[in-house]
Amino acid sequence: MSPLLEVKNLVKEYPVKRNLIGRVSESRRAVEDVSFTLDEGRTLAVVGESGAGKSSVARMVLRLIDPTAGEIWFKGTEIAGLSRSRFQQYRRDIQMVFQDPYSSLQPLMTVGDSVAEPLLLHTDLDRAARRKKAEELLEQVGLSRRLAGRRPHELSGGMLQRVSIARALSVEPSLVVCDEPVAALDVSIRAQVINLLMDIQAERGLSYLFISHDLHLVRHIADDVVIMKQGRVKEYGECERVFTAPEDPYAKELLGASLKPVTVDAAPAI
Ligand SMILES: Nc1ncnc2c1ncn2[C@@H]1O[C@H](COP(=O)(O)OP(=O)(O)OP(=O)(O)O)[C@@H](O)[C@H]1O
Ligand SMILES: [Mg+2]
Repeated sequence: MSPLLEVKNLVKEYPVKRNLIGRVSESRRAVEDVSFTLDEGRTLAVVGESGAGKSSVARMVLRLIDPTAGEIWFKGTEIAGLSRSRFQQYRRDIQMVFQDPYSSLQPLMTVGDSVAEPLLLHTDLDRAARRKKAEELLEQVGLSRRLAGRRPHELSGGMLQRVSIARALSVEPSLVVCDEPVAALDVSIRAQVINLLMDIQAERGLSYLFISHDLHLVRHIADDVVIMKQGRVKEYGECERVFTAPEDPYAKELLGASLKPVTVDAAPAI
């Protein structure tokens, strides 16, 4: 069986300078030869310091930006070659949850309409059916259906991230790309949102491409992990193996801190 997602030798160059006639005169390689696979029902984490290229990889998988080189295969087909209608299906099958729920939800739309928007784009459901589904989804992510008529500014960050998750789930995707989904939230509610994501995965068998700085979190939730530095993959493998026996010097250094047992005494004073 082919993997759900397979990324082969992905490269992304961004233009950094253009000449007088608008031609790119200088570019920067943000992603260099990145490859990995993600199987159905699993979580693959991508970690690395700021600027490592993690979000660029996520954005290429989502096709929000085009790769400079390399291939992205989904369910056994290369997506660059998809027909318009198959590409629409791909857009439906891969949904996303971003870091900042305040900017990823439309401020003037009601929460219910935001959750239902992918249904409007991708299904034939009428308005009443979309509304009903949106209310059910709100309940599935632990929110009251009465919130459907509210606007984003009336909700807390944690509630908004639940709304983003409900929206992503609305079209029943196979893969959800999560780019630092709890980094902007209060520490006290991060675990709730992570537990929600894990419960949803257990129920629905979907896969996550999970981008995070938080190594403890990654070890807790991921099956496999890619460690990136300056656009390149430094280490890639099954999470437990990478965390307990990293091979690459940079991976060792990065994971060093998280390998030490955490004790109350060792916790830094605040
Ligand atoms: N649109 C863009 N134009 C030019 N350079 C970009 C663009 N987007 C990202 N970059 C550069 O590409 C590199 C990788 O950026 P990316 O956002 O993928 O990193 P990241 O690992 O997600 O970082 P962070 O942890 O800070 O989110 C960085 O040097 C960044 O400045
Ligand atoms: Mg990023």
